[in-house]
Amino acid sequence: MADSAPIVCCCVGAGYVGGPTMAIMAQKCNVKITVVDINQARIDAWNSDELPIYEPGLDEIVKAQRGKNLFFSTEVDAAIEEADIIFVSVNTPTKTYGVGAGAAADLKYIEAVARQIGQVATGNKIVVEKSTVPVRCAQAIKAILEPHAREKGLRFDVCSNPEFLAEGTAIRDLLAPDRVLIGSDQNESGLAACALVKSLYAQWVPEEKILTTNVWSSELSKLVANALLAQRISSINAISALCEKTGADVEEVARAVGRDSRIGPKFLGASVGFGGSCFQKDILNLVYLCECEGLQEVADYFRSVVDINTYQRNRFARHIVNTLFGTIGGKRIALFGYAFKKDTGDTRESAAIYVAGELLKERARLAIYDPRSSARWCSGSSSTRPRRPRTSTLSLSWSTRTPTRTPLPTVPTLSPS
Ligand SMILES: NC(=O)c1ccc[n+]([C@@H]2O[C@H](COP(=O)([O-])OP(=O)(O)OC[C@H]3O[C@@H](n4cnc5c(N)ncnc54)[C@H](O)[C@@H]3O)[C@@H](O)[C@H]2O)c1
Repeated sequence: MADSAPIVCCCVGAGYVGGPTMAIMAQKCNVKITVVDINQARIDAWNSDELPIYEPGLDEIVKAQRGKNLFFSTEVDAAIEEADIIFVSVNTPTKTYGVGAGAAADLKYIEAVARQIGQVATGNKIVVEKSTVPVRCAQAIKAILEPHAREKGLRFDVCSNPEFLAEGTAIRDLLAPDRVLIGSDQNESGLAACALVKSLYAQWVPEEKILTTNVWSSELSKLVANALLAQRISSINAISALCEKTGADVEEVARAVGRDSRIGPKFLGASVGFGGSCFQKDILNLVYLCECEGLQEVADYFRSVVDINTYQRNRFARHIVNTLFGTIGGKRIALFGYAFKKDTGDTRESAAIYVAGELLKERARLAIYDPRSSARWCSGSSSTRPRRPRTSTLSLSWSTRTPTRTPLPTVPTLSPS
């Protein structure tokens, strides 16, 4: 492969997925990859000494490949034009308006990219969905591309290749994934597109870990994976409430049940609840799909995973208030950590935001410390900007420097993760 011409790739969306996945692909494959974004500040950061996201091990890889076979640019048209394979890893947030508001995925960014590809392309393209999307999104992309294909005599193949990395361990996950999943049309052209995408991953991922399937199964598998992971977190968190009532120790319970090989020990740490940009949005997306298909019982089952998560966050905040004699008005409380988990600066949907919001409602004075998250890490799209709790902003201070003194009073903890 090293002797042949590099495969030219483009990745639309230079976020938590686009940046790290393409950096690894550039490191491992004979490719030329341009990662493009409409966000100039984000691209500038990818081209600077201080990358826009923190991820252990990412810095070294980006700096080794950048300018060789990995490029970051805002010239989206040019990158699409020259690419054989276009990875789409734009954001797919929960819709906040109109039909499906609060549950369905907002596909406006995906649609915009599909339209742009159709307009710009002058050669055949393989379009790879890396973003997490509802089932049949690829069909919508194909419908958008079809008139352009007819008009220009081109062929567009759309594959699904959902990303399973976890923030905080993204590089490790990308280097040694549990599996890579590629969905494609089961016809000659679709299978050829799948084979080309597979040939990239095969440069570093063992063959038996690369699963191929049809497009819809691939799209749905990502939503299901996140729903099952989140369901496990909500299950142990629900049990933590019972443990507190009964005097059992949730860590001991988790240790005991996790020894069962059918259950396994991972994802059994009780916590303030899951956060991050994916779990809640992807479960709600699944809920919406089920509702649209008339499967109300299935929808309710998965919605309860989100409900327990909200319950756990509120319970944690109430526990703090109760422990501090029922009133925290004017009391200075330190929040250590604001990102949604360790080893990331990403604060999207962090449980800390909700807990802080509840504490501010009670008129506490908060001092927040996080070594990784600050406005700078999140200077990208507004969706990634750390949001202050939407309630009162009474006495909220923020720091990414190590605090010089221990703030008082001590915050009681409830099985933090
Ligand atoms: N963050 C994760 O851990 C993770 C893991 C697996 C899958 N995913 C999925 O991957 C997708 C991307 O997630 P992310 O966390 O990287 O999002 P992100 O918000 O960090 O990055 C998305 C980027 O896409 C850019 N963008 C949007 N529209 C564009 C357009 N028309 N042209 C060029 N750029 C455009 C935005 O400016 C933004 O920088 C989502 O669907 C998400 O659900 C995320």
